[in-house]
Amino acid sequence: MIIRRYTKDDEKGWLRCRVLSFLNTAYYDNVLKEKEVYDHPSIELVAIRDNQVVGLIDVEYEKEAKSVCTSRDRPGGMIWHIAVHPDYQRQGIGEKLLEAVVEETKRLNLTYLEAWTRDDVWVQKWYEKMSFEQTTSYYHLYFEGNEISSDKVEKLYTVTMFAHYMGSDVQQFDHLKRKHLCVCYVREL
Ligand SMILES: CC(C)(COP(=O)(O)OP(=O)(O)OC[C@H]1O[C@@H](n2cnc3c(N)ncnc32)[C@H](O)[C@@H]1OP(=O)(O)O)[C@@H](O)C(=O)NCCC(=O)NCCS
Repeated sequence: MIIRRYTKDDEKGWLRCRVLSFLNTAYYDNVLKEKEVYDHPSIELVAIRDNQVVGLIDVEYEKEAKSVCTSRDRPGGMIWHIAVHPDYQRQGIGEKLLEAVVEETKRLNLTYLEAWTRDDVWVQKWYEKMSFEQTTSYYHLYFEGNEISSDKVEKLYTVTMFAHYMGSDVQQFDHLKRKHLCVCYVREL
């Protein structure tokens, strides 16, 4: 297996790897058709084995505190994507990708890495094993059909709705079939 920089020719393999790895997680329907391009500088790496993308990591980083990240008043890097193809998980590929990023951050004077993930216990365990600590959280809420209580515009019937909830009265959403705690992880560098 080699770890190298992402190039445009990797895009199809990158998208496939990401969608397959997310299928078994709380992000199962977060599908991209194109890889995004970042406004700030980034570290974008792929792991290649058997002539395919089997792992990926994207970190967008800041020169000015809080222009990308949210956690500290000093420059950091945001992990927007980390994924390992399901047939290759738990073989140390995620860890190698992360360590390759950490190596690069040394010459960039970044002081921490930030990542947000939902309530997949095994994914959270991975972050904790990689020396990340939980800092804050809020809710991702999905409303379907009659879970949506009001339609304020005449003849407009909301069928599905996705919302962020930052408050503390989360019991009012106990009736939702789909509700995720979105957790912030930070690793000091
Ligand atoms: C999280 C992820 C990137 C880890 O990459 P990986 O190469 O599989 O993990 P590593 O081999 O580096 O580390 C393995 C450790 O991670 C944890 N882990 C990974 N997969 C696990 C699983 N299915 N069940 C339990 N623990 C698991 C364990 O702590 C494991 O250590 P152990 O095998 O000694 O118990 C990868 O599993 C993945 O792509 N997950 C789905 C995508 C995702 O959720 N990305 C983050 C969204 S923000």
